[in-house]
Amino acid sequence: MRLKRKSKLATKLGLFFLTSILLLEGILFLVLYFGFLNERIMAETDALLARGNSHRDVLEKHFDRETMEHVALMESEAETQVIITDERNSVLVHSNTVTSMIRTTLSSSSPLPVSGDIVEGDWGNKPYVMTGSPIVVNDQLVGNVYMILDTKSIREVRDHLTTQFLIISGLSLFLTVITIIYLSRMITRPLIEMKVATQQMSTGDHNVSLKVDRNDELGELAKGIQSLSDDLLRLKNDRSDFLANIAHELRTPLTYLNGYADIAQREELSSTERNTYLSIIKEESENLTSLVRDLFDMAKMDQQGFVINRDEVELCSLIHQVREKVSPAFENKGIDLIVSCQNKIHLDIDSTRFSQVILNLLDNALHYSESGKTVLIEAHSFQSDVIVRVIDEGEGIPEKDLPFIFERLYRVDKSRSRKYGGSGLGLAIAKEIIEKHGGSIKAESQKGKGTTITIVLLGVE
Ligand SMILES: Nc1ncnc2c1ncn2[C@@H]1O[C@H](COP(=O)(O)OP(=O)(O)OP(=O)(O)O)[C@@H](O)[C@H]1O
Ligand SMILES: [Mg+2]
Repeated sequence: MRLKRKSKLATKLGLFFLTSILLLEGILFLVLYFGFLNERIMAETDALLARGNSHRDVLEKHFDRETMEHVALMESEAETQVIITDERNSVLVHSNTVTSMIRTTLSSSSPLPVSGDIVEGDWGNKPYVMTGSPIVVNDQLVGNVYMILDTKSIREVRDHLTTQFLIISGLSLFLTVITIIYLSRMITRPLIEMKVATQQMSTGDHNVSLKVDRNDELGELAKGIQSLSDDLLRLKNDRSDFLANIAHELRTPLTYLNGYADIAQREELSSTERNTYLSIIKEESENLTSLVRDLFDMAKMDQQGFVINRDEVELCSLIHQVREKVSPAFENKGIDLIVSCQNKIHLDIDSTRFSQVILNLLDNALHYSESGKTVLIEAHSFQSDVIVRVIDEGEGIPEKDLPFIFERLYRVDKSRSRKYGGSGLGLAIAKEIIEKHGGSIKAESQKGKGTTITIVLLGVE
């Protein structure tokens, strides 16, 4: 099956190659054969007839033995041959031996026109061509002059051409076989390998390994397929990791909920104790709700079902609104929240989504800073850009983690006993939203000193 398929493309290409060469060569052969050879034979025959006519003219003036022999003598030294006959075509004089074939041609020759004629022109089958010119003296046919030309040299050229044609055909056939082998090695085999690889990928097996060392289009194709397969493998692993993480994220609060609900049900609890457990349950369920909401957002983003409803917004008032919302939490933890904002910055953005981003950033700043520290939200425009920064003096992010913090479910502190129960989705969502707006977001941080998150958006002129 594999071999059969392997030879298909190579054979097709090979046969195409063979047909093209044979066609080209055939046309060339026919052109040479019919054009060149026929033309040459026609020119020779015309010359032969002219020479015969000129002998005839002499003989019409002196139709005697001496002149005839003189003519024959002249021709005996030439390539041509002359035969002079009487009016009934009995040979009178000839320059060379008259073969039986010539005699047959002579005896079957019909009366000739005055200007002479070609008696034998079939040079392909007969070894000669022959012309005849009638000798007329006093309106009376007294004999004929026949001129004969051996066509051996022309037939040799023809035979030579035919041999060459056959040699080239054989050579083409040989080259075709070589081409088919070459093509199947060089083109078809890698193609088959790639086909098998893509089939393997489509069945879900992404452990594909293709030869990518070629420096041509096939090499590039193999590289493309290989990187596609690597990407798919990575995505598959990412997805499994993601699902495992989500399962873990959901299980942890659920375990708490279960545990605290069990405790809250105990009859010997005082109402104050019960209330404490119930408020823990409420807090955990709120965390769960926000996690599910974030996951839902991410799913929508993946399905391209996440739409940005742009509207012109004045940035400072938007930031102040967000600040109002979060200030109780900051006050509770004893962290100063300062807004520094250049007035009248207009943006064409989805205000709800953008507030969500700022809320996520402030949430991080709050959770990763100790009391007594300050968090600053700063916004200004620079040329056509609008720059928003959230700067904190918190614990900072280690350099090795910094490139990954915008990835989904990535947390610096991976231990489950961490003080803040974030799930690692906040920054991933913020990045998606900002990029959907055509902007960019980046983080700079120094462990122990603090973190600055910078958002750059295009302002409204
Ligand atoms: N301001 C910051 N200071 C220190 N570390 C930060 C800060 N912002 C983010 N990080 C680190 O980056 C990680 C990813 O942040 P992200 O906001 O995506 O997730 P999270 O805060 O853990 O959870 P979520 O926001 O989904 O509730 C955090 O776990 C934290 O380790
Ligand atoms: Mg967060």
